[in-house]
Amino acid sequence: MPASAPTDMVAGVTSSRDWDPDLDGATPPPPDALGRLTALLDDDLQATNRAIVARMESPVALIPQLAAHLVAAGGKRMRPLLTLASANLCGYQGTRHVQLAACVEFIHTATLLHDDVVDESVLRRGLASANALFGNKASVLVGDFLFARAFQLMVADGSLEVLRILSAAAATIAEGEVLQLTTQNDIETTEQKYFEVIRGKTAALFAAACAVGGVIAESRPEECAALADYGMDLGMAFQLVDDALDYNANTAELGKTVGDDFREGKLTYPVLLAIAGSNAEERAFWQRTIGEGEQNEDDLATALSLIARHDAINRTIARAQVFTENANRALSVFAPSELREMLRDAARYTAERRF
Ligand code: IPE
Ligand code: IPE
Ligand code: MG
Ligand code: MG
Repeated sequence: MPASAPTDMVAGVTSSRDWDPDLDGATPPPPDALGRLTALLDDDLQATNRAIVARMESPVALIPQLAAHLVAAGGKRMRPLLTLASANLCGYQGTRHVQLAACVEFIHTATLLHDDVVDESVLRRGLASANALFGNKASVLVGDFLFARAFQLMVADGSLEVLRILSAAAATIAEGEVLQLTTQNDIETTEQKYFEVIRGKTAALFAAACAVGGVIAESRPEECAALADYGMDLGMAFQLVDDALDYNANTAELGKTVGDDFREGKLTYPVLLAIAGSNAEERAFWQRTIGEGEQNEDDLATALSLIARHDAINRTIARAQVFTENANRALSVFAPSELREMLRDAARYTAERRF
């Protein structure tokens, strides 16, 4: 890893959390860690899906039509799952967590609609993306609708603290996406800038999704902060792995087009590592293909071979694991429980996922 970006400075977290005897970063997660968490919270998750479908309704037919295309295509429901799990971990007994989980998924779905327009992506969740099917204009506008719906759900919840956390996350996501736009095609982009981008565009929503679970349970401030830390580091790991998968997965399995980031000239972590270790010839390749966006059909294969030469996929996953270990340490403020360990397994699984 390049020395310019010390782990904890970049992630904005401290590494001096309490030692927890139950934590063993070397333990591999059970193969279906996310599935186990989903099964445990199945009733809540189904209620969340019902809330999502109900709140997608509009007399303007194109809105539910377009939104249903994306929602019915599935998705991992990772962020709403985190809201539900966090609330449960904090002993929450009511039903607000279900509405807020739906709200979090609406924010996520809105950002996906906008992101696919910006990234010109044609595949999402294994189906034609909404922009490919309905056009950019409809995608942008329905994305706006879903954002607005999310805000209505926050208002309906009634907690100003929840509103503060989720509205801040929505603003931060937009900042992250805009910041990414400004680093696109710039092969001088630093690792620090990359981490700033992914913290904004991805990790902030994971952090908020977790934190609101603690807030509605009226948990102690240090527990809410721990949930936010867990979510933030998990989100960093999640995006690092997403960026690795964009060079290292199978399009059919991933449900998104592998190689999109290269074609878009995105300075993601695997590329940053390959550039950092490049010789003059390799650097010229990156400057032409990513810097100037001049690509021919053999270039993705060359990019993949350079990424392999610099072991950049494994190093990206290893970096994600540092974040998941940090995320899991944050949960040490909670008493040991099956749910706490499932959240830790879900974090470990994130670094090993293939889709
Ligand atoms: C995609 O998120 C956007 C990123 C932050 C990488 P997910 O991979 O969680 O997308 P779905 O909801 O499961 O489709
Ligand atoms: C995540 O980044 C985008 C959002 C947070 C909306 P990506 O652009 O890498 O996400 P995918 O790969 O399109 O899902
Ligand atoms: Mg994208
Ligand atoms: Mg991606």
